[in-house]
Amino acid sequence: MSTIPFTPDLSVKPEVTAFFDAPTNTISYIVKDPNSTSCAVIDSVMDIDYAAGRISYEGADEIIAFIEKHNLKLEWLIETHVHADHLSAAPYIQGKLGGKLGIGENITIVQDTFGKIFNEGTEFQRDGSQFDRLFTDGDSYQIGGLTTHVMHTPGHTPACMTHVVGNAAFVGDTLFMPDGGSARADFPGGDARTLYRSIQRVLSLPRETRLFMCHDYGPNGRDIQWETSVGDEIDHNIHVGKGTDEDTFVKMREERDATLAMPKLIIPSLQVNMRAGQLPPKDESGKSFLKVPLNGL
Ligand SMILES: [Fe+2]
Repeated sequence: MSTIPFTPDLSVKPEVTAFFDAPTNTISYIVKDPNSTSCAVIDSVMDIDYAAGRISYEGADEIIAFIEKHNLKLEWLIETHVHADHLSAAPYIQGKLGGKLGIGENITIVQDTFGKIFNEGTEFQRDGSQFDRLFTDGDSYQIGGLTTHVMHTPGHTPACMTHVVGNAAFVGDTLFMPDGGSARADFPGGDARTLYRSIQRVLSLPRETRLFMCHDYGPNGRDIQWETSVGDEIDHNIHVGKGTDEDTFVKMREERDATLAMPKLIIPSLQVNMRAGQLPPKDESGKSFLKVPLNGL
């Protein structure tokens, strides 16, 4: 589990376009094969006004417009993990443009955990069948001529995967920018020690590997950024850089996590994202509802 399950090839250079969602500080990506029209969308966002219970698709429509404008063929919709801070727009985009929806195989663990917390009935399948493909560690898939390799990088959640395509790696919430450190590891199924080991795995990619973040919060007032490199993370990451050892990281991460409030959108996000971005089934009134478990999280 500690080694990289494939041979990195930095000569392969996918074209990466980023889309920043300001309300949730999420970055979505279009990854394009430079030698064909094939592309993938990673971690798309559905808009929600939670106070009003209203969803919309402005952000997803921008991604769709980009793909249509450049006549691209959408082959994959990738979720790096089950996000707890934004809702996925993958099924909406898939409905307009096609493509297959993929996530890590441990989605089944996440579905089991949150299926219980939200007291979902037996109609909620916990076998990952809402997705088209469940990735295992060392798996690969094609975006046109690009081969994407999948590495299991749990710790933030059990299903987190890092997707490596040529000289680019999409790390989800495994790492933040060097001055942001790392993501929390205190959600159900998260674990700081596991996260440290996953981060070491990402940092064992070649130093020049481009790393693309799922989130950035612009620490200390700097502008939002989403791209760094393995070398920069090793040299400068405030949580794991400069050879920080495992016990030091775990202590820091656990102490810090104990101070963090729940993400504003965790309750709607989990209920939608554990269903691959689908809204909960409509009831007899024809409407879809979200639950709020009291003292359940
Ligand atoms: Fe996350």
